[in-house]
Amino acid sequence: MTLLNSQLHNFSYPESRFNLRSKNVMTQTKEAKENTMRAVALDRFGGPETLKIQTVPIPEAGADEILIHVESAGVGAWDPFEREGGFVEVLGSTPKFPYVLGTDGAGTVAAVGGKVKELKEGDRVYGAELGNPKGGFYAEYAVVKAENASLIPSTLNMDQAAVLPSDGLTALKGLEEVLRLQQDDSVMIFGASGGIGHLAVQLAKRLGARVFAVASGEDGVNFVKGLGADTAVDGRSNEVLDVAREFAPKGIDAALVTAGGESTDRALSAIRPGGRIAYPNGVMPVPKAPARVSVDAFDGEGGRDAIDRLNQLIEAGPFEVHVDRVFPLEQAAAAQAALEEHHLGKIALRVG
Ligand SMILES: NC(=O)c1ccc[n+]([C@@H]2O[C@H](COP(=O)([O-])OP(=O)(O)OC[C@H]3O[C@@H](n4cnc5c(N)ncnc54)[C@H](OP(=O)(O)O)[C@@H]3O)[C@@H](O)[C@H]2O)c1
Repeated sequence: MTLLNSQLHNFSYPESRFNLRSKNVMTQTKEAKENTMRAVALDRFGGPETLKIQTVPIPEAGADEILIHVESAGVGAWDPFEREGGFVEVLGSTPKFPYVLGTDGAGTVAAVGGKVKELKEGDRVYGAELGNPKGGFYAEYAVVKAENASLIPSTLNMDQAAVLPSDGLTALKGLEEVLRLQQDDSVMIFGASGGIGHLAVQLAKRLGARVFAVASGEDGVNFVKGLGADTAVDGRSNEVLDVAREFAPKGIDAALVTAGGESTDRALSAIRPGGRIAYPNGVMPVPKAPARVSVDAFDGEGGRDAIDRLNQLIEAGPFEVHVDRVFPLEQAAAAQAALEEHHLGKIALRVG
């Protein structure tokens, strides 16, 4: 890629020079093609019909950024909200169309900015950036700040790495920073078979906690038991509080909540006085804390230290990043529709 994308847009030939320089024109046309990529790009915010494959310019890496040749993109629970323009409204930012979705993804480094020291061309990396003005990961190429990307832990494949960053970093921040989980603390993970939940179950075990997993369905319960939960129960059954009492007769120390509703609030009455509840912004309805229990909303955060910590915990032993379904890029609408159906773990979009 020798031309800047912005230069491409502005490039024009004076009529008189056109024939004389036709060879050059052909080169420029070829270069123009080489500077474009396939992406699922929106021309406006709206429903699933706005998710269309388009040819758009490849973004360029700035000095502290890397260009990733994307192999797989994570499909986030929040992607339909972003597709409908929700984030732009909340953040008060001005969107640029065509707008490429996709907070999370993985692939191979295609180019690095001048200030990037920790990653190099050819590295297998994963990363995340929310509402990235240079476009997201539903595309053949994506640019992220180098500090928001990392080498892929050796045990993960591209699809697993692609779905990991936002939910992994959110789970970790909730457990370590917000709940300040200590060795031998008891913790409820509500929504344990979902994206954040299944990662949180394993991270909480790594942190030395006792895990009470509230999962979705019989398959969800079996799934989280397999991930190491000490006790697991179906969140829609009537036995949650009985099982919770057996698990922690004096009440559970803390809860990380990833799904809201009546059954959530009922389950949270199992948290002991003086205990604490955390939930990532986006969980609706907002969880209600029982008396004398603190409740904190938070956002997952990237950055070098957080990603390194996540990688370190993942590499410390067997760790499953569960990809339930993989869709081709062309089926982004079906992939987003699948978010609404019962599933375990995450959904990926195969790009390359
Ligand atoms: N603020 C941030 O930084 C941030 C970052 C990441 C995510 N989020 C938000 O956090 C929320 C969770 O994200 P996620 O990726 O974990 O979503 P997810 O994969 O949809 O996980 C939610 C899980 O909760 C389960 N569930 C729902 N009701 C339940 C019940 N009564 N009992 C047991 N399980 C129940 C769902 O199961 P079924 O669907 O199978 O029923 C699903 O597995 C979303 O709102 C997302 O937007 C926020």
